[in-house]
Amino acid sequence: MPALKIPFAKVVCDGRELQYIREALASGWLTTAGQCRAFEEAFGRAVNAVHALAVNSCTAALHLALEAAGVTAGDEVIVPALTFTATAEVVRYLGADPVIADVDGETGLLKPETVRDLARARPRIKAVIPVHYGGQSVRMLTDETGPGLLETARELGLKIIEDAAHAFPARYRAGGPAVGSLAETICCFSFYANKTITSGEGGLLATGSAEAARRARIMRMHGIDREVWDRFTAKTPSWQYDVVAPGYKYNLSDVLAAIGRAQLERAEEFRRGRERCARRYLAALGNMKNLAPPRLRAGLTSADHSWHLFPVVSRPGGPDRDRLIEELAARGIGTSVHYRPLHRMKSYAERYRLSPEAFPETEKIWAGTFSLPIYPALTDEEIDYICAALADLAG
Ligand SMILES: Cc1ncc(COP(=O)(O)O)c(C=O)c1O
Repeated sequence: MPALKIPFAKVVCDGRELQYIREALASGWLTTAGQCRAFEEAFGRAVNAVHALAVNSCTAALHLALEAAGVTAGDEVIVPALTFTATAEVVRYLGADPVIADVDGETGLLKPETVRDLARARPRIKAVIPVHYGGQSVRMLTDETGPGLLETARELGLKIIEDAAHAFPARYRAGGPAVGSLAETICCFSFYANKTITSGEGGLLATGSAEAARRARIMRMHGIDREVWDRFTAKTPSWQYDVVAPGYKYNLSDVLAAIGRAQLERAEEFRRGRERCARRYLAALGNMKNLAPPRLRAGLTSADHSWHLFPVVSRPGGPDRDRLIEELAARGIGTSVHYRPLHRMKSYAERYRLSPEAFPETEKIWAGTFSLPIYPALTDEEIDYICAALADLAG
């Protein structure tokens, strides 16, 4: 029996969740209504976004965002190799093709230079989906290390859809604007159960573009030109609506939005809790010969990172990652892997004839990566136990 049992993820759900759920039940509106509105308004304020649309997953938000950006069959969209399949599958939903790009071998982030080179070589590329991997932002703003993705995309005429599933709350540069606040992109967040805040299942699309917001609002609800709540609360009869396009069913239930609202109130407290874990890990693991801790991108500090993940890499010549995961499990420590890259997934590898040699930087990460537990309820004692196990197994 291991001395401690530490799960990979643990949800903290002891704020006003029940109070808001009760309000939702008492209101008689269980589908999209007042709780959703309140959640959208509060989230929009939190990330400083003009338009914030709640939906039932980040995958839905990404799909709506690409559709609103005008991506259609025959187009290509750049996505990083080191991500969850949702980032790329939504491109396929629209009959377009993902162009899978190598990421920076130190940070796991897509580089604006890579986007520039790919877009110059492939005229069908219409958009790019930067993933703020683990919770730190891709270089969106130009700084002393080079042009940001905003400037690069503007020059090339590309649309940007941000995949911020990991990155709430986070910033684009030290003490700078919040991820989600850029006026000219569409930014998608996830409230899946293991994310930095959760509504069980849920997502949100944030943008400064009135046109994109208008389109996504209609398309999240069957392409109907009036919202349900409106239809049943306004003076015009509820049956008087038109369908302007074959849309989707992506609205968020008020019961889930109620949970999201309560979680949102504690987002910064949760983030500080995860930052505490990250700092303690970094202090203990910083000098280990065989393990590379996560690297902050130039221009960011630990306070600008949401710390959704804490991925470490077993260095070449270090212990085998798969064995390490098993040995940690035997000591009661849950881990995960983020990610087996897209070019190693059958569906993409076969369709696009991808081979690992084309992704040397991503491969460096993949060869040894695994993620350690990081959540506000993780105690210092538990972190010390994990670090001691790592020193023993990989030191
Ligand atoms: C990078 C990334 N993008 C998108 C998603 C999809 O999020 P959701 O489950 O809310 O659809 C995830 C979920 O894990 C993710 O990690």
